Amino acid sequence: MELPESVKVWSQFFHPAFMWILLGTSVYTLYLGIQFRRARTGNAEEEVKNKKGKLREKHYSISSILLAFVIIGNLGGMAVTYINNGKLFVGPHLLVGLSILALIATSAALVPWMTKGNNLARNAHIVLNVAVLGLFSWQAFTGMQILFKIIGSLTGGESA
Ligand code: HEM
Ligand code: HEM
Repeated sequence: MELPESVKVWSQFFHPAFMWILLGTSVYTLYLGIQFRRARTGNAEEEVKNKKGKLREKHYSISSILLAFVIIGNLGGMAVTYINNGKLFVGPHLLVGLSILALIATSAALVPWMTKGNNLARNAHIVLNVAVLGLFSWQAFTGMQILFKIIGSLTGGESA
């Protein structure tokens, strides 16, 4: 199947834009998670304490959407790369991307135990997600390098 050239070219900008939005969402959900933890553990003011249930629900909803979109965005990046190059590049951006999926899925799978108040599960959730955030930032860095190469080759500079 041949896609029109314009679709091929423009499809390459969707993944980077989408992933930047998801990186922002990750930082926001980290903030919500921290707020929830503070409300739960007692070193928060009354106002935050009263919002405990709401904070949990909000963190849970936004993170669930994040989980789905990170997986879709990762697969989208692979699809677009394949469409434009006829292959994937088994390099850091691909491998770190797949590792992020494993980590965030595992962190979401801990929810039943966190809900029961298991502290080991809670701490593992935090460690896993800090790793996700670190790797996500790294993806932004390598992703922009790939993007600049693509733009360079489109504008007739050195090809990628
Ligand atoms: C960037 C991603 C994420 C970060 C930084 C993050 C961070 C946190 C933090 C700091 C807490 C508080 C833990 C505590 O109270 O000790 C928390 C709790 C929680 N997280 Fe996440 N989280 C992330 C992703 C997710 C995902 C993907 C899910 C599930 C879809 C999820 C579901 C929950 C739930 C349900 C709780 C409350 C657990 C309880 O009832 O004690 N989080 N998260
Ligand atoms: C945050 C900023 C990010 C930027 C700017 C970015 C940028 C890019 C670009 C430009 C491509 C090449 C697309 C093409 O060849 O047409 C790409 C591919 C890809 N991206 Fe990202 N990305 C980002 C984040 C992520 C994240 C967080 C993941 C995974 C969770 C991810 C997973 C992938 C994968 C798996 C590929 C295919 C790589 C290959 O086979 O060579 N990206 N990305």
